[in-house]
Amino acid sequence: MELGKVHLNLKTVLLTMMMFKWGIFCTASSDKCLSAPCHNGATCVDNMDDYACLCAKDGVRFMGKNCDELYDACSFAPCEDCSSTPGETEYHCICPDGLAGDNCTEEVDECESNPCSEPRSLCVDQLNGYFCRCPPGSEDRTAGHT
Ligand SMILES: *[C@@H]1O[C@H](CO)[C@@H](O)[C@H](O)[C@H]1NC(C)=O
Repeated sequence: MELGKVHLNLKTVLLTMMMFKWGIFCTASSDKCLSAPCHNGATCVDNMDDYACLCAKDGVRFMGKNCDELYDACSFAPCEDCSSTPGETEYHCICPDGLAGDNCTEEVDECESNPCSEPRSLCVDQLNGYFCRCPPGSEDRTAGHT
């Protein structure tokens, strides 16, 4: 009988431990969202030991752990010089000379307007500018002509 008693005790201890563990788990997970930490219409999602806020996607937008900061589109923009309206998702990159495009990743082709004329008719595009040169096989005969 001595053996059976020990076995029972062990079972009780295990069960108590499990109940204690489940108890902690349930309390911790539901408490995180019960305090309503998410603002501005955000949805709260429970995690094991934390919560996450899914910020509302309509109207004025918010960001941050609790969706309580006005959305700053420029903080996600890939360009350095940026402007945006707080609470809106659009941003506008202010590109340095010679670069263009939404994210200033496109190089401006300064030769597109055909700025070169004879005899230096060949336009060579550069990062922020261009130069005109004579086509291969011809000589620059303007030197000393003007
Ligand atoms: C600009 O960058 C954003 C964010 O990195 C990206 O989602 C978007 O596709 C880019 N736009 C262009 C035109 O490259």
